[in-house]
Amino acid sequence: MPMTRWFRSAVPPILAALLLSGCDFAGPQSALDPAGPIAQAQLDLFNWSLWLSALVMIGTFGVLAYVILRYRRGQRTDVPEQSHGNPKLEIALTIVPVIIVVMVAVPTVRTIFATEARVTPTEDDLVVKVTGYQWWWKFEYPEYGITTANELRVPTDRRVVLQLDSADVLHSFWVPRLAGKRDMIPNQDNQLVFTAPEAGEYYGQCAELCLGAHAYMKFRVISEEPAAFEAWADTFDIDGAQRVQADPQVQRGHQLFAQKGCTTCHTVDGYRSTPVGTPEFPDLTNFGTRTTLGAAILPNTQENLEAWLRDPDALKPGNYMPALWSEDDPDADEEIAAVAAYLLSLGTPDETEARAFVGGDHGDR
Ligand code: CUA
Repeated sequence: MPMTRWFRSAVPPILAALLLSGCDFAGPQSALDPAGPIAQAQLDLFNWSLWLSALVMIGTFGVLAYVILRYRRGQRTDVPEQSHGNPKLEIALTIVPVIIVVMVAVPTVRTIFATEARVTPTEDDLVVKVTGYQWWWKFEYPEYGITTANELRVPTDRRVVLQLDSADVLHSFWVPRLAGKRDMIPNQDNQLVFTAPEAGEYYGQCAELCLGAHAYMKFRVISEEPAAFEAWADTFDIDGAQRVQADPQVQRGHQLFAQKGCTTCHTVDGYRSTPVGTPEFPDLTNFGTRTTLGAAILPNTQENLEAWLRDPDALKPGNYMPALWSEDDPDADEEIAAVAAYLLSLGTPDETEARAFVGGDHGDR
């Protein structure tokens, strides 16, 4: 039997080690590694509750262990003194839990009110309208006339006021390192306020089950120095139509972008002048400046983009983007490469760039 006993006593620590080894306390999506005042306030509250719970646990298990050892069978043969009721003990056992609950409740309510407070945005704030779609994110910057998707750029020196909405089902906006999650509900004007004082890239994730590709509904928050942010915003000042670079493959990709019907859903012109695309699908203006694709499921590279265009459903099951090339299409490789090259060129500086379209003329050539 010693083997069985050894096995039994070894199981709990092994299980605990396995569970803990799955934790990455400083991962890119870890609320335990805060990068802004809101996330910090939430972590402080978490830590306070954690240590308080640990104290309660140590106290409870301590008493339990003492009683088990002190009164274990075999040491005593006499019947313990029989008693009924102990007013002092009962009052103590009522008051102590109340004190503990108050110690948790007061900071909790205080943090909720501090982080949930609605603000009236001032000129100093950066206001961004965020709309959740199955399964991607639209970000609109009214101040700059920018519409973009899945990548929220913010400057380090400004408070960010997000106006959260949903176009279909419930979603939940969550950037663990910057701010807690907030639900996005159709026709309800929710707000989330945060500051990202350190430049960096922060992972975001939809935190409310929204069917289908919910787990693939990710995004990035990119916080950058004010000058870099303004330079990025300036790239959207494209006056009518997105420039098309002179590179022949890029030109070919641009043609195919219209011919294959991409423009039915996607615009590259921010909806300013041309009736191309629909606001219900991601705006691809300056797509080449994005770091990820498919709502942040993959790095935005030529190779990944080709795989995405070839079979979006294979990478993100259930999403609404169709495969536009049949498997036996002999031109698929060349055409997919061209469209990918075109998309990656959007918004990137190029000496040879030429204005292919002027004014509202767009698409069907
Ligand atoms: Cu959107 Cu889950």
